[in-house]
Amino acid sequence: MTPPRNSTAARDVAYALHPYTDHKAHLINGPMVINRGKGVKVFDDQGKDYIESVAGLWCASLGFDNERLVQAATDQMRKLPFYHSFTGKSHEPMVDLAEMLIERAPVPMSKVFFANSGSEANDSVIKILWYMNNAIGRPAKKKIISRLKGYHGITLAAACLTGLPANHKLFDLPLPGFIHVGTPHHYHNALPGESEEDFATRLAAELEEVILKEGPETVAAFYAEPFMGAGGVIIPPATYFEKIQVVLKKYDVLMCVDEVIAGFFRTGNYWGSQTFAIQPDILVCAKALSAAYLPISAVMVNERVFQGIAEGSSTVGTWGHGFTYSGHPVPAAVAIETLKIYDELDMLSHVRKVGPHMQAALQQRFAEHPMVGEVRGVGLVAAVELVEDKAKARNFDPAKKIGPRLTKLGEKHGVIMRAMTNDSIGFSPPLIISTAEIDEMVDRVGRALDELSVELRRESIAAV
Ligand SMILES: Cc1ncc(COP(=O)(O)O)c(C=O)c1O
Repeated sequence: MTPPRNSTAARDVAYALHPYTDHKAHLINGPMVINRGKGVKVFDDQGKDYIESVAGLWCASLGFDNERLVQAATDQMRKLPFYHSFTGKSHEPMVDLAEMLIERAPVPMSKVFFANSGSEANDSVIKILWYMNNAIGRPAKKKIISRLKGYHGITLAAACLTGLPANHKLFDLPLPGFIHVGTPHHYHNALPGESEEDFATRLAAELEEVILKEGPETVAAFYAEPFMGAGGVIIPPATYFEKIQVVLKKYDVLMCVDEVIAGFFRTGNYWGSQTFAIQPDILVCAKALSAAYLPISAVMVNERVFQGIAEGSSTVGTWGHGFTYSGHPVPAAVAIETLKIYDELDMLSHVRKVGPHMQAALQQRFAEHPMVGEVRGVGLVAAVELVEDKAKARNFDPAKKIGPRLTKLGEKHGVIMRAMTNDSIGFSPPLIISTAEIDEMVDRVGRALDELSVELRRESIAAV
């Protein structure tokens, strides 16, 4: 149905350039317009409700109607709506938030730098690595190793860390100096009969080989999400990070952890680093830092990294990096309130209760389904991967767009879902979700998948 000429949908097609969208298809299909939210649900412009199974973009951790966050923003706007943090200027919200993050960090950290998005934070880390190594007399140590299917954002340098083809194709990326090693996905990439531990040993050996080939004196850092999010919710095999970090230490390669999704309880601990035994030199977080109510991200650096920055800044006369809105007082105030709410709600215990419930419910409903190859997850994040051939773990031809078809059917059944590479359907609901809401979410997804199975059966019969 063509939307009325002056509707939001019609004006969207006329004027908006959407992130992550096929624009020719969008001209025909138009947008899905979301008007309001309540708890774990959002409502479209027709008033239909949807459970947000991915918390928007893995971020709306406290759901869509938290009054305390609204109040925190309003109070701060009345008191000091903006001030910057360049050239030593400061304000209380930025300092309070930096202190809270250092207190909560998974390992001793020294300083916090603020940006506005995950991408900006990761871009900042790349510049920090280059700057500090120049400052401390290691100008050749600049290359960064990340993983195929890793996601670290889309700004110019962060997109080079990202290991997904859609972020490189036609953009002339990645730039030189960014190297991608193998994806730690046991289901697809382990050799026949290889245990998780042996697979991890092989990946660590591959990393060492790459470092030696490039020359350890040229490799600055290894960059990783604790679990891969946008790449398909890929949980590393047992002992992976322990073995990777032995190699990194041997060649003095820094460990940079991207906790943009994993941070703040998602994996059943405060940080993904704790779940997977990672000791970061640099840690990036965003998204659930402010429950997504306002944009803010943070880069935590340890004392050694800080000393490198300090050294360079005294040579040059300044650390020539930072954003107008670094540490903006309003998002900082919202983030402070978010962290207080997590403490008051004892979010850790809540996630440790509802997370296993979600994992069990997904396993029970989907593990035996003929179209499902793997149900995987940790804490309150999971994926259900659709396959054409369950016995051979073979995915559908991407041209068939099976994942997008399922998400479309999900909308009909009242659930917003996210399809990623290999038709992996991600689940990362708001942290506040209850067990009853998880059951409802799984039921809605299940009904969509059953309907898709019927459609595919009908189509294959028609094709014969
Ligand atoms: C792990 C990770 N890093 C970085 C980013 C980029 O964050 P942003 O979209 O805020 O730039 C994302 C976004 O999903 C992410 O999942």
